[in-house]
Amino acid sequence: MVKKNACVFISGEGSNLRNLLKRSRDYNFPICIKLVISNNPKARGINFAKKYSIPCLIINTKFRFFENTLLNNLKEYKIDVVCLAGYMRIISKNFLRSFKKQIINIHPSLLPKYKGLNTFKRILEKKEIMTGCTVHFVNEKLDGGRIIAQKSFYIKTNSNESDLKKKTQILEYNAYPEALIKIFRANC
Ligand code: GRF
Repeated sequence: MVKKNACVFISGEGSNLRNLLKRSRDYNFPICIKLVISNNPKARGINFAKKYSIPCLIINTKFRFFENTLLNNLKEYKIDVVCLAGYMRIISKNFLRSFKKQIINIHPSLLPKYKGLNTFKRILEKKEIMTGCTVHFVNEKLDGGRIIAQKSFYIKTNSNESDLKKKTQILEYNAYPEALIKIFRANC
């Protein structure tokens, strides 16, 4: 099977990165992770890239032309798809226009509900009875691109933010791989 070359963008823990790295070792998984990019030199996820011997580029977003560095690296590694996994920066319109391939994101809510930050806090404040995660294409609108996959669960009474995060992330570890399989299966 010809796998798509993927680059994963991270900023923090990197548990979704670790999961995708694990899954991508499977012969039948549609992507091969060729590059990891972090905008945070202290991101724990960098260690997972090292463990799997994947090149990791740390970018300084204060540098005016950092997006050119990103685009050059994506070109050099022949990246077909960018997977955002806890990347805490907005992808600019300029970047979207220049990188003409797919960019996918995972968000910890049932979009279109609770776009943006502090999702768990807001979900609890609204006393939602259900939440989950969404994998979607990235477009120019924040958390607004076409939905590829969603998974949900019922919220138990007295749940706190940490409970919601744990449960949501467990679902994410299935949702992200499933979404990638769904997108690329036809081309495998
Ligand atoms: C995930 O919950 C994802 O939904 C959100 O950021 C979190 C990243 O977690 N976009 P990790 O860095 O993959 O552990």
